Amino acid sequence: RPLLNTHDVGQTLHWYEEVGSTNDVAKGLAEEGALHGEVVVAERQTAGRGRRGRSWSSPARRNVYLSAVLRPDLPPARAPELTLLASVAVCQAVRQAGVAAAGIKWPNDVLASGRKLAGVLTEMAAEVERVQWVVIGIGVNVNAAAADFPEELRGVATSLLLERGAPVPRALFAAAVLTALEEWLDRHADEGFGPVRAAWREMSDTLGREVRIRGGAAELTGVAEDIDEAGALLVRTATGLERVVAGDVELLRP
Ligand code: BTN
Repeated sequence: RPLLNTHDVGQTLHWYEEVGSTNDVAKGLAEEGALHGEVVVAERQTAGRGRRGRSWSSPARRNVYLSAVLRPDLPPARAPELTLLASVAVCQAVRQAGVAAAGIKWPNDVLASGRKLAGVLTEMAAEVERVQWVVIGIGVNVNAAAADFPEELRGVATSLLLERGAPVPRALFAAAVLTALEEWLDRHADEGFGPVRAAWREMSDTLGREVRIRGGAAELTGVAEDIDEAGALLVRTATGLERVVAGDVELLRP
């Protein structure tokens, strides 16, 4: 079995020693007509970006930083499904790499031991009816040691190395992520969001827990009950069931 077991995703690979952000490079390629599945990967990022305007720590040759250009046949309103799909693919690859306890914090953070192991940043361009392109950016802390994280991330971030106690070959791991990503994209194209939703629920570190949501439309606290058929988080609060489409989730209590 080849390392990269895909027909499209990652078969064209744009490799860089250094970029600002692989998402920005991938967006540029997408605008110039890059095909579905082209992937940008870099050894380090000087301006790695996270969700909600945050930065993403991107030290050289420790971790995996990659962005895939996708051209899904989807209305723009369904694009958020791909963000959850990507987190399922990453969590699956992380578990395969030996971190069995990894889970997902809504919408798409992969955690282990309550600390962040990986993140997904989805960006897109759409016409009225159809998505033109989606760029899915994936950052996984693979072989970062505690000293590789900036001070403010110690205690908040973790890596495969720190969780397993042994390093993981980055190319092997990147191939596993891309293979899982394509498997789930194919499944999504054939069967819709249902199977992705079921896998997300199984991998969730969020459902059944007391959460605080900030930075979205309103601040609220309650118990995360489920995700709905569009991937929104349903939170049971003192006053009723709230549907959360954006925001930061804080897990209260283990
Ligand atoms: C988050 O958790 O806030 C999302 C982090 C996404 C980081 C990845 S690293 C590869 C790609 N390029 C970026 O600038 N960001 C994403």
